[in-house]
Amino acid sequence: MLEKMKTGIAGLDEMLEGGIPRRRHVAIYGGPGTGKTTLGFEYLYRGAKMGEPGLYLTLEEGPEDIIDNMKNQFKALTDIDELIANQKLFIEAPNDYTVDAIVKILETRIIENDVVRAVIDSATMVKAMFETEAEYRKTMVEFFNLLKNLDCNTFLLVEAETSERTKIRFEIEHYILDGIINLYSLDKGDHRVRALEIFKMRGTNHSRDLVPFKVTPSGVKVYVGEKVF
Ligand SMILES: Nc1ncnc2c1ncn2[C@@H]1O[C@H](COP(=O)(O)OP(=O)(O)O)[C@@H](O)[C@H]1O
Ligand SMILES: [Mg+2]
Repeated sequence: MLEKMKTGIAGLDEMLEGGIPRRRHVAIYGGPGTGKTTLGFEYLYRGAKMGEPGLYLTLEEGPEDIIDNMKNQFKALTDIDELIANQKLFIEAPNDYTVDAIVKILETRIIENDVVRAVIDSATMVKAMFETEAEYRKTMVEFFNLLKNLDCNTFLLVEAETSERTKIRFEIEHYILDGIINLYSLDKGDHRVRALEIFKMRGTNHSRDLVPFKVTPSGVKVYVGEKVF
């Protein structure tokens, strides 16, 4: 049996047959504002509460902005600062915008601080470091091989170019990573609803349903069994 790590996110573990297999790497794919940062952050927060330290590596917004936004979003989670102070939660930017710097910080936190969960926000920013698609692909494969040897689970956030479900282009991350969770902001009459689907999770008989989710002050709630439309 594969050992599973609970995400701790309400509803999501049920869809994942208990969680994500250990040492697996998952792409969180979605358009702007679909909740990638939110889901990634809560994944680390829940881990930290279960005694599994986590690292949020931000290449986009500054660490302070991420912390402020998440505290504002998750008003009922009042121990975020405490988890950071106790080194259960690390929210950092790499010193340098290179793949080497990203790997270095990951390795350091894993070895020195027992980090077992990491979020990289975002693969899209990693991609921006390269001049050609071919260079990016080559480096991503190398990066993924490095990740596979690290004793941690990662969420790699990927910015989708479109929020339309049928227009998603499959990128390199889809082929090399162990899992894919797609986030959507779907048109429903005069408003949008958030929805997610587990598109792929190696070694897991996961749900294939598109399910609605909400961001509440106490965390993300995934409404398993409910329909979006
Ligand atoms: N306090 C809040 N409660 C619920 N939703 C919020 C709150 N603050 C921001 N949001 C929503 O979350 C979205 C940003 O989510 P985020 O996780 O940063 O998305 P992404 O990383 O995919 O761009 C905002 O566009 C907004 O719709
Ligand atoms: Mg984000």
